Amino acid sequence: MGCFGCSCKSSIRTIDHESSEDNKNSINAIINSGRTRSDSDDQRTSSVSPRIDSELIASYEGGPSGGRKARAFTYRELAAACCNFNPECFLGEGGFGKVYKGHLESTNEYVAIKQLDPNGLQGRREFLVEVMTLSLADHPNLVKLIGFCAEGDERLLVYEYMPLGSLEDHLHDLLPGSKGLDWATRLKIAAGAARGLEYLHNKMEPPVIYRDLKCSNILLGPGFHPKLSDFGLAKVGPLGDKTHVSTRVMGTYGYCAPDYAMTGQLTFKSDIYSFGVVLLEIITGRKAIDFSKPAREQNLVAWARPLFKDRKGFIKMADPLLEGRFPPKAMYQAIYIAALCVQEKPNMRPAILDVVNALDFLANQSLAASEKKSP
Ligand SMILES: Nc1ncnc2c1ncn2[C@@H]1O[C@H](COP(=O)(O)OP(=O)(O)OP(=O)(O)O)[C@@H](O)[C@H]1O
Ligand SMILES: [Mg+2]
Repeated sequence: MGCFGCSCKSSIRTIDHESSEDNKNSINAIINSGRTRSDSDDQRTSSVSPRIDSELIASYEGGPSGGRKARAFTYRELAAACCNFNPECFLGEGGFGKVYKGHLESTNEYVAIKQLDPNGLQGRREFLVEVMTLSLADHPNLVKLIGFCAEGDERLLVYEYMPLGSLEDHLHDLLPGSKGLDWATRLKIAAGAARGLEYLHNKMEPPVIYRDLKCSNILLGPGFHPKLSDFGLAKVGPLGDKTHVSTRVMGTYGYCAPDYAMTGQLTFKSDIYSFGVVLLEIITGRKAIDFSKPAREQNLVAWARPLFKDRKGFIKMADPLLEGRFPPKAMYQAIYIAALCVQEKPNMRPAILDVVNALDFLANQSLAASEKKSP
């Protein structure tokens, strides 16, 4: 799935919610234990200049040798790791280029090697932003960047290998005969992905807007542990009194918030919208955009909006592959969280910390229920 300048022409109708304060209260009602952290946790104060991304890029000129943790590889080392980019090692391809599975002799570890396609949709800027963002980041729900290669015109990125592939593989590209993800695993993935996003928004200095949240960028490790990947489009968030960053509209069609697509004003709430789309995909098993469906069902959010209001009909939204194996109350609550996230007005969408708390609550509840069943 490739990235492109998004131009979502929103035919999407608003869902009626009074205010973001009400959203917060509703989410807290789901959590029901009132264990949210204080609002001050969410207040960002940073002395870092908003120009940090361009300054950082400038400091990497000629190759990102200043990366804190990422290791610089030679092209030869990486070519050797994946048997000279042998098609047998090929894992997939995205806007940046081809991805290969490799084995590093020096550390005896398996890695994923992404090779920049000079004719691809993404370029050296994305390469630098990726290296810089991941060099500064450290969280169990973000994929680890092991290193990079910037030799001549070659640009390669080396990541930890995620053996279960992407969430997209498990929702939309299922192997024949595969049963699909169960409800507890879906919630675990949603909660973990939200935690990764919360780290970017609230814990990173400076805070980062991800801009590319989608199922193919949620990679899965052993036990379906989710990690966000692909930070080439990441942007330093607005600092001080600023509410948004003005930027060229980038992202993936179907995931891009309508307000950002129409104005180019990027906010943390743009990521919340994309998260809501991913959560809807997890719940329904439908794709964000699916041109093989009838016109009214092609855009997932547009299809879902009328159903959000149908309190009795929400079961119709569940992925048929779940075969009804989910607690109806938790399903309703998960749909409710998704509905809050994809609201048209950005300030009505919840903050990521509230989403994390609500999903953690649902995920823990469902884990406890499945442990009870199989002692
Ligand atoms: N660290 C990794 N471990 C295992 N597989 C990976 C890893 N990184 C990427 N892949 C696989 O490689 C394929 C291509 O990934 P890539 O991120 O380049 O493209 P994409 O996310 O599908 O699209 P886009 O470029 O629009 O983000 C995907 O199928 C993904 O599952
Ligand atoms: Mg990707």
